[in-house]
Amino acid sequence: MRTHVVDHPLVAHKLTTLRDQATDSSTFRRLTDELVTLLAYEATRAVRVEAVTITTPVAQANGIKLSTPKPLVVPILRAGLGMLDGMMRLLPTSEVGFLGMIRNEETLQASTYAERLPEDLSGRQCYVLDPMLATGGTLAAAIRFLTDRGADDITCITLLAAPEGLANLEAALEGLAVPVAIVTAALDERLDENGYIVPGLGDAGDRLYGVAH
Ligand code: URA
Repeated sequence: MRTHVVDHPLVAHKLTTLRDQATDSSTFRRLTDELVTLLAYEATRAVRVEAVTITTPVAQANGIKLSTPKPLVVPILRAGLGMLDGMMRLLPTSEVGFLGMIRNEETLQASTYAERLPEDLSGRQCYVLDPMLATGGTLAAAIRFLTDRGADDITCITLLAAPEGLANLEAALEGLAVPVAIVTAALDERLDENGYIVPGLGDAGDRLYGVAH
């Protein structure tokens, strides 16, 4: 598993406002959108392309286009939805599959409650969107779900990651033949006793969409 912490002053600047508890939901949504577009630029460095020749008004030119099948973008509901527009801005022709996962706040175990994805993901490059890599349980389950359907290259984009979560994820994916990359805006200090990232930004879903009961 490869982890890439995007080191850029604009990313750090936007993330600082995002973390601030005084930032309201609409600003939080806008900043998430902007941040994901910046992260997506890094995360798509290895997007699959193929060579094409086109004709300019002057001459023939060699170029590239995105390969087929197109990448699949997978936001993890609910908080990953806040990252979808920012991602699609850079990959507007990709397809989108939805995966609903919920974390039991006592056991911290992730389970799937909804899915809308192609049955066959053979040869598909997937971009998984989940703002918080906390314990790593949700992403481990999502990655297994996608590779079980044949996905052969997975990049996860997160806003924050915890060291414990990265270590758990690495252990959970041991032996998996599919390459997995994590692209994140920051690697925080630790998890607290409730599985929240410290210093973090709180509950990403609640901050995007309001408190869910
Ligand atoms: N999920 C969140 O929304 N925030 C955390 O800090 C950890 C998990």
